[in-house]
Amino acid sequence: MTGGTNGAPAAGTSRERYGESLFVRDTPEYRRLRLLGEVFDPLSVRTLAAVGVRPGMRCLEIGAGGGSMARWLCGQTAPTQVVATDLDVSALEPGQDENLLPIVHDVTRDSFPTESFDLIHARFVLNHLPERDEVLKRITQWLRPGGVLMVESFSWFPVDSSPNAGYRKALLRWSDLVRDTIGTDSRWARNYPSALGCHGLRDLDAHTVTQHIRGGSDLADFWRLTVDMSREQLLGRGYLSTKEYEDFTSLMQDVDFWDLAPALTQAWGRK
Ligand SMILES: C[S@@+](CC[C@H](N)C(=O)[O-])C[C@H]1O[C@@H](n2cnc3c(N)ncnc32)[C@H](O)[C@@H]1O
Repeated sequence: MTGGTNGAPAAGTSRERYGESLFVRDTPEYRRLRLLGEVFDPLSVRTLAAVGVRPGMRCLEIGAGGGSMARWLCGQTAPTQVVATDLDVSALEPGQDENLLPIVHDVTRDSFPTESFDLIHARFVLNHLPERDEVLKRITQWLRPGGVLMVESFSWFPVDSSPNAGYRKALLRWSDLVRDTIGTDSRWARNYPSALGCHGLRDLDAHTVTQHIRGGSDLADFWRLTVDMSREQLLGRGYLSTKEYEDFTSLMQDVDFWDLAPALTQAWGRK
């Protein structure tokens, strides 16, 4: 079967959920989540700190993954509890963070009481959920008046405009694969603030951080592992040829390769 390009699953098939065949929680995925935290936490922390995180705030980290952001929130808001949700909380042992409360929680189905949290953060989660707009509406109901929601995901314009055809094609076809398989929308971040505003948030703001990617860096390693995780589907379903896949892998390890990485878009608003 050749990979689709129109965003719809093939006739007669239904989409999978996150974690079924893509983003499976195996050993490489734990490593990829750890690397994701190392690469992106400094950017998330900088913005969250500027937006305002204080001791005593009750925080919710949605789709906490490896848990690094939830742990940072624990340090900032102690002794108040930080609720960290995910479909899989195996990487969220409280350890030294006594105020960390991991909960198995599917944000598309499970709820929290209204007005439970002062801060809700979701990074690289909602873009993967086909029901993202409905989920966003429900999440805002869990915020207390004055509470802040911050949502983060990638923007792909640096890849769209890359002069390096091999780099561009591998990442765009990976993005097509996750869209066709689980319904990820890699373009959602472009109008974040309007999505937040639709659900009654005010003081909306957003910015986008564009980083250079150099072969051999942690950021390149993150994208290499991300594409590698989907190798079987990318090759088996005709999204990339073996040569295209191998060329991308080599580029990500070539210290002479420089380009722009998918950018990080952050948006926030207050209830
Ligand atoms: C790309 S990872 C990002 C992890 C973490 N937010 C970070 O940025 O380090 C996406 C996370 O969302 C979780 N996730 C996916 N679908 C979810 C759902 N319906 N409800 C809760 N978590 C979900 C995944 O299990 C995974 O841990």
